[in-house]
Amino acid sequence: MSFRTTPSVSYVEDVSPGRGALPPRAWYATSDAESLSLNGSWRFRLSATAGAQDDSFAAEGYGAGDWAEVTVPGHWVLQGDGAFGSPIYTNHLYPFPVDPPHVPTENPTGDHLRVFDLPDAWPADGTAVLRFDGVESCARIWLNGTELGEFKGSRLPHEFAVGELLKPAGNVLAVRVHQWSAGSYLEDQDQWWLPGIFRDVTLLHRPEGAAGDFFVHASYDHSTGEGTLCVDSDVDGRVSVPALDIDVATGESVTVAVEPWSAETPKLYDGELVTPGERVPLRIGFRTVALEDGLIKVNGRAILFKGVNRHEWHPERGRALDLETMREDVLLMKRHNLNAVRTSHYPPHPAFLDLCDEYGLWVIDECDLETHGFTEQRWRDNPVDDDRWTPALLDRAARMVERDKNHPSIVFWSLGNEAGTGRGLTAMAEWIHGRDTSRLVHYEGDWNCRDTDVYSRMYAPHAEVERIGKRLDGGPGKRRELPFIQCEYGHAMGNGPGGLADYQRIFERHDRLQGGFIWEWIDHGVTHPELGFAYGGDFGEELHDGNFVCDGLVFPDRRPSPGLVEYKKAIEPVRFEGADGGVRVTNAYDFADLSHLEFEFSYQVDGMPTGAHTLTVPPLAPGESAEVKLPAAAPDGDGAEVGWTVRALLAADTPWAGRGHEVAWAQRTVAPRAPLGTATGAGPTAAGDLIVLGPGAFDARTGALRSIGGVDVTGPRLDVWRAPTDNDEGASWQDDTRWGVLWRKLGLHRMRHRLDGVEADADSLTVRTRVAPAARDVGLRTVYRWTSDGERLRLTVSVSPEGDWKVPLPRLGVRLGLRAALTESALWFGSGGEAYPDTRAAAKLLRWDASIEELQTPYVRPQENGARSDVRWVELGGLRVEGEPEFWFSARRWTSEQLDAARHLTDLTPGETVWVNLDHGQHGIGSQSCGPGPLPQYFLKAEPAEFSFVFSAIG
Ligand code: GAL
Repeated sequence: MSFRTTPSVSYVEDVSPGRGALPPRAWYATSDAESLSLNGSWRFRLSATAGAQDDSFAAEGYGAGDWAEVTVPGHWVLQGDGAFGSPIYTNHLYPFPVDPPHVPTENPTGDHLRVFDLPDAWPADGTAVLRFDGVESCARIWLNGTELGEFKGSRLPHEFAVGELLKPAGNVLAVRVHQWSAGSYLEDQDQWWLPGIFRDVTLLHRPEGAAGDFFVHASYDHSTGEGTLCVDSDVDGRVSVPALDIDVATGESVTVAVEPWSAETPKLYDGELVTPGERVPLRIGFRTVALEDGLIKVNGRAILFKGVNRHEWHPERGRALDLETMREDVLLMKRHNLNAVRTSHYPPHPAFLDLCDEYGLWVIDECDLETHGFTEQRWRDNPVDDDRWTPALLDRAARMVERDKNHPSIVFWSLGNEAGTGRGLTAMAEWIHGRDTSRLVHYEGDWNCRDTDVYSRMYAPHAEVERIGKRLDGGPGKRRELPFIQCEYGHAMGNGPGGLADYQRIFERHDRLQGGFIWEWIDHGVTHPELGFAYGGDFGEELHDGNFVCDGLVFPDRRPSPGLVEYKKAIEPVRFEGADGGVRVTNAYDFADLSHLEFEFSYQVDGMPTGAHTLTVPPLAPGESAEVKLPAAAPDGDGAEVGWTVRALLAADTPWAGRGHEVAWAQRTVAPRAPLGTATGAGPTAAGDLIVLGPGAFDARTGALRSIGGVDVTGPRLDVWRAPTDNDEGASWQDDTRWGVLWRKLGLHRMRHRLDGVEADADSLTVRTRVAPAARDVGLRTVYRWTSDGERLRLTVSVSPEGDWKVPLPRLGVRLGLRAALTESALWFGSGGEAYPDTRAAAKLLRWDASIEELQTPYVRPQENGARSDVRWVELGGLRVEGEPEFWFSARRWTSEQLDAARHLTDLTPGETVWVNLDHGQHGIGSQSCGPGPLPQYFLKAEPAEFSFVFSAIG
């Protein structure tokens, strides 16, 4: 007896890269050959398993009229309103049992069908190829009923020869896509699992004599100022570069004087490769990358990466990015002083690399390889150390290098991410080194640097980075000779990262340290009808890693977060230091002089700019400094604070920002504000059940303030709680320093206020309290002393910790409530944007105003946010509050407890009170959601403290 079983799907679990695809070659977007985009609406049928359906759908004449439709490029789980399954987010855990190369029987499989006609202009001669730029994770292809092959390698291109199969009309392209395959074991990147044809599908006409593969070699000799061009081409032809008067045969090299390419000066020459059958436009950048004197040098100079890790992300379309979104990323990066991108953790859409060439960004192009989940079994069975998988690894390396090799922006090839170590990686490195001697090889996972040209680490703490910079880190001989980068640092999850300016100072102190790449560019929040942006778990995943997927410098909708503004400041390419009667200006670019900038100088009095002057700065070369005289004498502040601001602005429009765009700035205080004065003269008097002191009315029994000059106030009283940030909460592997967890354990979110006494004397009202959590013996003796001069009310808060405090405090200050109906906005003199002790480099101190809504930073998972630092005074809700010393303020329409309880922003609803925190201190932010916590100097220790606020009602 025989049975007919399900169709064979053995290729799905086959470790090989696939069958039938053409060898990889250089990618280019356009040429004079015809092409036909097959993007658009495709017929779609979803099955629960790989073998649920036979192949009959691929046959010509198959009736798919009742199938659903999806848009290609796209991920089916992000289409169909949930009818096609949901995204799954895991960091490193495989969302299926680890038994390589096997995958679950439940293997969502999407059959895609597209019928197309050739355009009239399609030539009758020649042949054609079908190109798939990205399909996750395994695809099998048929054209007009004939199978072309199958492939894995989701973020890599695959081409198939289709010449004889094409018809003028009614071509049937059938693509079967499996969510899980052996390839999934190699694609365990920390991101959403998103199956589908998510990059372009294109039919390319290949005329007789069309270009095949070609390799543009364009080097630059900084000692002569000459570039050497040689284009190796499978198909002989000619190469022309009109601006350089070059017209040579392929394979022939030519040396001429050129302007070099760098990320700062991205000079591209338009050229053309002409083969007998095709003209391919080239954009040529001359540059030489070398490892020299233990340093990464480009065109003879050591470079400093001011980089970011970029995953491809769009909140609605996932990793199916359109050109405008890619351009937006590049523009945002350039406008925020970034100069480098690591394409974590796979080659991006090739158009992104064109943009990096054009606008100028150094690129580490990373292979589509991560096997992180094997760490759960101590790397046993790791595919990168198993020869059976090596062909797949080599195929991935080749598809990346061959596709992307003609981009001047790429300076490093990266073997992949978090894949342990093994022979397969070594084989990849050897192949890459052999194929492209003009670039360096990166891989973080091997700290011995066996296969790499750079010592790379992630999340190394400041002190360790400094040790490495001083070459005190030891290590094997080869590593000791290599430069160092942090391929990931500064974990931008939620509020933060902290400590960036401190890292930058260390990078700049030691030559061996060549900078780093923040983790990461964008929050991968998914637009969700009820939740705003969804994260892990929001789609009911059985295994997930929550909001660890939201750890970017920009929000899912690409609005810059304060972390990006802070980074921009930390890495700014011009430095200013106050000097006697002047300012010392330093050019911190690697290649550009300062002639593209103009400098604006102004004084501000009490935070108000008083008019701009031009500061004349010589066109300093990289590394040079000059001392420049201030262009005007300081105005008399008459007791108000006087300071200056100097700004470096683009002197002319650039492709990425207009004239006047701010590149760098600095401020100095020239004359401090006068002390606030003691506010004495008035004394407390009893009035029924109230005590009146100047403009203040207090509850006579409790000493609680009720109103100031008729403005109702709840509180103020001591507050130490903040809704823990992701960086406070820390990562699960950091048991002793997860402050968010320890704070909660101690009970800092449920402090009790015991009233010990209300005392009125001739000129003050004193309220004595002890603030402490239930079940613990630690506490904070807190004394509120109120005085007044009749018009203003001064509060001095004295805090004395009792008991053995083993943890820092989240914050230390007072919280008060104001009537929401009367509190729409705030006006203040202090930092313009959000700032915390170690995220304060970008705190520009001026007079600012903002609505209460604008004072909130919309972190995808709600948490402490929005504090303004260095505040001298703030006016809101009919009150003016001055502080001594300067303070932090935040204001929101919900309490910290409500903020803490919320999982999404949509959980937060405004109440009748605006809650205002006036803080003497805040604990640092750090990077502990993945890396190190705040540096010790940013700890808010439980120590005796005293601070004052002066309140007055304003009309
Ligand atoms: C790194 C990893 C990234 C990401 C990050 C944490 O270990 O390379 O992919 O997971 O940690 O967000």
